[in-house]
Amino acid sequence: MRTTLGLLLLIGAVSCRFFLDRDPTSFFANGTLSCKLNKTWCFHVKMYEDDFGFEFANDVIDFYGTRCTSLEQHEYELSGNQFGDGLWNEEYEINISVTHNCTISGKKRRFRRMPQIVPVETPRVEITLDLLDVTDLGNEFVEHYV
Ligand SMILES: *[C@@H]1O[C@H](CO)[C@@H](O)[C@H](O)[C@H]1NC(C)=O
Ligand SMILES: *[C@@H]1O[C@H](CO)[C@@H](O)[C@H](O)[C@H]1NC(C)=O
Ligand SMILES: *[C@@H]1O[C@H](CO)[C@@H](O)[C@H](O)[C@H]1NC(C)=O
Ligand SMILES: *[C@@H]1O[C@H](CO)[C@@H](O)[C@H](O)[C@H]1NC(C)=O
Repeated sequence: MRTTLGLLLLIGAVSCRFFLDRDPTSFFANGTLSCKLNKTWCFHVKMYEDDFGFEFANDVIDFYGTRCTSLEQHEYELSGNQFGDGLWNEEYEINISVTHNCTISGKKRRFRRMPQIVPVETPRVEITLDLLDVTDLGNEFVEHYV
């Protein structure tokens, strides 16, 4: 009985989501990262939609990398579409996370930015991020880029 009810609710939620689907929003973001260590460094940039504030509920829109460079600066570019949001949300919260090893210790660090909150009806969102020096930036130490 419980299972049936759960199943019905699930079907309800899925079809509801289906009928509520809106036109997609297309996202584009780009920018440049820099590293002052004069060493080879690597980075990974990810753009995702923060649905419920939990990592597991995120929709990845696009990622760039992992790239390694011996130059001081490297550009990145992200683009993708989102089709409607979670049932209760009227806006997208777009986060960008950067993981890199431009660190004095050589350990990988990660930081997040939330540059945009946009209504789901927005057809296109373009984000240009300023030149960002990532040297030793980020409070989160991670093992992997992704
Ligand atoms: C970002 O994209 C815009 C539009 O395509 C372009 O004019 C600009 O030079 C790009 N900036 C970077 C840092 O790539
Ligand atoms: C950067 O490193 C290279 C090789 O390790 C060295 O030749 C060069 O002088 C360094 N440049 C600066 C600005 O420290
Ligand atoms: C970052 O990782 C690359 C690849 O493992 C390595 O060659 C480079 O020396 C590392 N850079 C720093 C600053 O630790
Ligand atoms: C999104 O970014 C904001 C601001 O940095 C942060 O508070 C929030 O936890 C981030 N959400 C996720 C799911 O990473």
